[in-house]
Amino acid sequence: MSRKILVTSALPYANGPLHLGHLLESIQTDIWVRYQKLRGNDCIYLCADDAHGTAIMLTAEKLGITPEEQIARVKAEHERDLAGFLIRFDNYHSTHSPECKHYSEEIYRRLDANGHIERRDVTQLFDPEKNLFLADRYIKGSCPKCKTDDQYGDNCEACGATYTPAELINPRSAISGATPIEKSSTHFFFKLGDFENLLRKWTDSDALQPQIANKLREWLDAGLQSWDISRDAPYFGFEIPGAPGKFFYVWLDAPIGYMASCANWCEKNGRDFNEYWGLDSTAELYHFIGKDIINFHGLFWPAMLDSAGFRQPTAIYAHGFLTVNGKKMSKSRGTFIKAETYLKHLPAEYLRYYFAAKLSGAVDDIDLNLEDFINRVNSDLVGKLVNIASRSAKFVQKGNDGKLSASQHNADLWQQVTGASANIAQLYEQREYSKAVREIMALADATNEYFDSCEPWKLAKSDDTVALAADVASQCIDIFRVLTTYLSPVLPELAIKAEQFLNCSLTWQGEFTPLHNHAIEPFKAMMSRVDADKVATMVDESSDNTPAPAPAAKPKQAAKDKDTGITDTIAYPDFAKIDLRVAEIVAAEAVEGADKLLKLTLSLGDLGTRQVFAGIKTAYNAQQLVGKLTVMVANLEARKMRFGMSEGMVLAAGPGDQEIWLLSPDSGAKAGMKIQ
Ligand code: 2FM
Ligand code: ZN
Repeated sequence: MSRKILVTSALPYANGPLHLGHLLESIQTDIWVRYQKLRGNDCIYLCADDAHGTAIMLTAEKLGITPEEQIARVKAEHERDLAGFLIRFDNYHSTHSPECKHYSEEIYRRLDANGHIERRDVTQLFDPEKNLFLADRYIKGSCPKCKTDDQYGDNCEACGATYTPAELINPRSAISGATPIEKSSTHFFFKLGDFENLLRKWTDSDALQPQIANKLREWLDAGLQSWDISRDAPYFGFEIPGAPGKFFYVWLDAPIGYMASCANWCEKNGRDFNEYWGLDSTAELYHFIGKDIINFHGLFWPAMLDSAGFRQPTAIYAHGFLTVNGKKMSKSRGTFIKAETYLKHLPAEYLRYYFAAKLSGAVDDIDLNLEDFINRVNSDLVGKLVNIASRSAKFVQKGNDGKLSASQHNADLWQQVTGASANIAQLYEQREYSKAVREIMALADATNEYFDSCEPWKLAKSDDTVALAADVASQCIDIFRVLTTYLSPVLPELAIKAEQFLNCSLTWQGEFTPLHNHAIEPFKAMMSRVDADKVATMVDESSDNTPAPAPAAKPKQAAKDKDTGITDTIAYPDFAKIDLRVAEIVAAEAVEGADKLLKLTLSLGDLGTRQVFAGIKTAYNAQQLVGKLTVMVANLEARKMRFGMSEGMVLAAGPGDQEIWLLSPDSGAKAGMKIQ
């Protein structure tokens, strides 16, 4: 029976760009979710931006924009980068949303009504110029121990001493430079100690990895402190009901953002929120997070859910930190690599594969060694996996007219490959991706060895044995199909290319049955070797030692030929950047207040859906478009229009008004296919 599963990954702060550390988590989660979907489970993957807090407020102020503008900008960038890494969310929302406000207020009211909120006066350092209470990281001064200047309010980078901000010598506000004063105000606290019994039981359940459970036990044994959940104005967040000038601390509403994203998804998809969060929910609920935020998810969150009458998570899956070339990511070494910078130089699937090849179900740190990355991708993906198809295809064309043979040439090998299904499935389920990858690659090795030992290139030379060469090659190609299916949660684009080549869809439910007498397409390159120069350029560009690139010139409209109206020639690499896809129009509606626009929801098959505003309303009525296939530019930068985000562009021809015709592919094309 299909399982109902809700999966989340930690909500990125809307205060800056994503880097490869974030991607480790999104990729780990996305692989798990894709695996669950592939096996037929009813699984959804939800996330959002974490949009509140002082840092976001100060960034917006520095940029001269409102916090709302800041978080909208960053959200668009995050969504663009995550899509670039093929992270397929069912919904990506924001904590600055009506749903999050609703649930934050509701949960707070329930905690308060149950007697789990206490109010207490707290004295803190205050910036008298900015009229702002200062968190420790916004106070600087000299270390009370070693006297080094310019140290933050909680610890000294020179001697490692820890202290309170009040102990700093000559403290000053890192925001205005003013000397802080001490000031008292009332804070709201969540009484975590009331939940000790619940949290001990939870810690002993199998919801947590052993290493995490041990850490929680340490905290429980040390005694649970009440948690300060309020911040004074000015603060970018939600005001606490009944407490003017007091706001929820960003970490109070951050995990509630999971619920908010779910409520928003349920609303859009006609599903019931309580099926996921109600006390009698039968859904499984998993939070993928980094080990640094385990206190929030392992202590506060289960306690809040319990008091507010919601179900508990099924499990928290924590991962370790990402290092690059064995060290903490660093701007001076060029290893603090932003998602955007990576994508400028390299395909997402290389990194997805490399991370998968290293990830386990444990909380260990993961190292991205760039040399190993190049070797691993080249040797495993290009040299072993894709090689099976590329070296076999020509023998099927030659010896059997492009059709896979009618019989099994190596039943033992087929049995070995398909028989590994249950074990590989279990490894995915347990997040032991590195073991799954190792097993799949061992099967690819065995297949290449079988190919070599049969020497089809010799068999193909004689008319008597050319059919035998096709039998061997067919066997290899059918095994390639199974191996690519196993890897499709990691390599979804390769899977699409394999489907086009194999002329069938890759499915992994029930037993694999051999493909006999089945016509395949001519082989086209599926993956190229990693170009070491590109890796080097990416590192150079990530280094803060390199001068900043000159600001890009304002894009000009391409010039047109006077006579023909055809625009100037562009170089092939520029053309190759355009990702055109077949898209199915799954919904279309007029846009209120716009004469010419239709809002289209376009399905790209497995790649998800996009919302696009198209100026075709004068030529088409919305209803007649639903179900039609068209062609879209899938990698056009998302643009904020007056009516919402437009995430691409559909192709149409004609001068305009009624005379405009949407392009559509010939029958046989499927949503998501790349236009070659
Ligand atoms: O640590 C972080 O980046 C937080 N923004 C994660 C929030 S996760 C969840 F609780 F919202
Ligand atoms: Zn010191």
